[in-house]
Amino acid sequence: MVSVTSSSVRVTNNNSESVVSIPADFLVVGAYSTSTWTTAASALDKALGGLLTRLAESGDISGKQGELVTILAPQGIKAQRVLIVGLGARDQLNSTAAFRATSAAAKRMADKKRHCVAYFLNEGWSADVTEAALCGTLIGCVGQDIYRTERKLHPPEEVTWVGAETETLVKARELAESVNFARRLVNEPPNELYPETFADIAETTGRENGFEVETWDERRLQAERCGALIAVARGSARPPRLVIMKYAGGTADQPWLGLVGKGVTFDSGGLSIKPTDGMKTMKCDMAGAATVLGAMRAIARLKLPVNVLGFAGLVENMLSGESYKVGDVLRARSGKTIEVLNTDAEGRLVLADVLDVAAERGVSKIIDLATLTGACVVALGTDVVGAMTNDQEWCDTVLEAARICGESVWQLPMFSEFADEIKSDVADIKNTGNARWGGAITAGKFLEESVGGKPWVHLDIAGPAFLDSAKPWLDAGGTGTFVRTLVQVARDWC
Ligand code: BES
Ligand code: MN
Ligand code: ZN
Repeated sequence: MVSVTSSSVRVTNNNSESVVSIPADFLVVGAYSTSTWTTAASALDKALGGLLTRLAESGDISGKQGELVTILAPQGIKAQRVLIVGLGARDQLNSTAAFRATSAAAKRMADKKRHCVAYFLNEGWSADVTEAALCGTLIGCVGQDIYRTERKLHPPEEVTWVGAETETLVKARELAESVNFARRLVNEPPNELYPETFADIAETTGRENGFEVETWDERRLQAERCGALIAVARGSARPPRLVIMKYAGGTADQPWLGLVGKGVTFDSGGLSIKPTDGMKTMKCDMAGAATVLGAMRAIARLKLPVNVLGFAGLVENMLSGESYKVGDVLRARSGKTIEVLNTDAEGRLVLADVLDVAAERGVSKIIDLATLTGACVVALGTDVVGAMTNDQEWCDTVLEAARICGESVWQLPMFSEFADEIKSDVADIKNTGNARWGGAITAGKFLEESVGGKPWVHLDIAGPAFLDSAKPWLDAGGTGTFVRTLVQVARDWC
């Protein structure tokens, strides 16, 4: 069984050292494109005999967002190297820019083994921006090459952050580790991570971090009439699981927040088989479930005073003589009948049953996360999550949490015309629209049928959940997108 352990980067707070006196392998200082040096950069400039000023004059340091300038073996300070990080315009610095700047810096420095990296960055920053930046320092240095003998990225042994509250540091570290945990789950190959092993990891994670985990095996799923989920799983030799996670951090009378994740540990498309190119990254199809598990881990570790129920619908979408077929009519747990017109539109079938269980368990509001449609990637690209809802107020809460964390999301309309698309001639609904147009929304409309009228936000993370190639600030592979936003929603839930 795969074991997923958290990183062991030590994160320390240091408010007494200066840029001149701190001993570190790397010293990280920010530069803005719009204004004079920060206090730390000024002090550094002075200690280095005006070197930064000269580099700025020659155009080598511009402060442009994403710029990284390395100074090796500087004379006059204790640190062995300096990294000047471009932060862009000072008045435009937000959580997204801060996260990308620090994660790009962390990724650059992780090219070699480092003992200690010291950050002097957050002058005048809000707590939210500082937290995002701290997360970046611990996320950018972790790579996807978990099975390569010689890793390409090496997290430092110690990160020292100068000028932040210890509490902010501790929280950010928990968040970042949970993001990396979700990334690791997504990066695990499908021969290692399948419904049973995912459920095992969820149980271990719950035991170690203080939340309850209940796992439904195939018999229980059968007894619970999860006909849609079971149909998807039938073509696989790997039996399905439904994982229910319960964190009761709030009082008994507090409402329950429901988090639901699509956990297709591999999506071959089934009989509506994908071409190889489309299948290459389909280990990422459990990213929604990984996000929920990662968020539960963080919420429990931060001991947030909230009640949260997490659900992961775990199946493998495969082909065999047992596979569900195009033309099959399934009976979902809700009692609704579903005509299957494409076995590759499996995520909505799995979620139909999981959402029904969530609604029945008494959650008062729901967020689901799913790598649900290629259409959403066509609509919004690879960096933006698509949001769909039946309750604008609840959606606004989620969008605001994402803004605070610096995670990109855009709402798509849920006009009733889209529901006409999934009307079936032989059953209550069908699992695809008539044409491929607006496919993200027809999928959203399909899910809406199973939420029992509860306030609900559907997040289609098909684009941002997995990077095909590396970005300057993040290695390719799983991104852990929206773990931080979910935790922020839980904070606001208090
Ligand atoms: N898991 C895929 C969606 C996906 C595509 C995720 C690209 C990540 C990257 C999903 O199960 C799927 O195959 N959706 C189909 C739906 C269609 C058959 C209606 C799609 O998007 O093509
Ligand atoms: Mn599919
Ligand atoms: Zn899928």
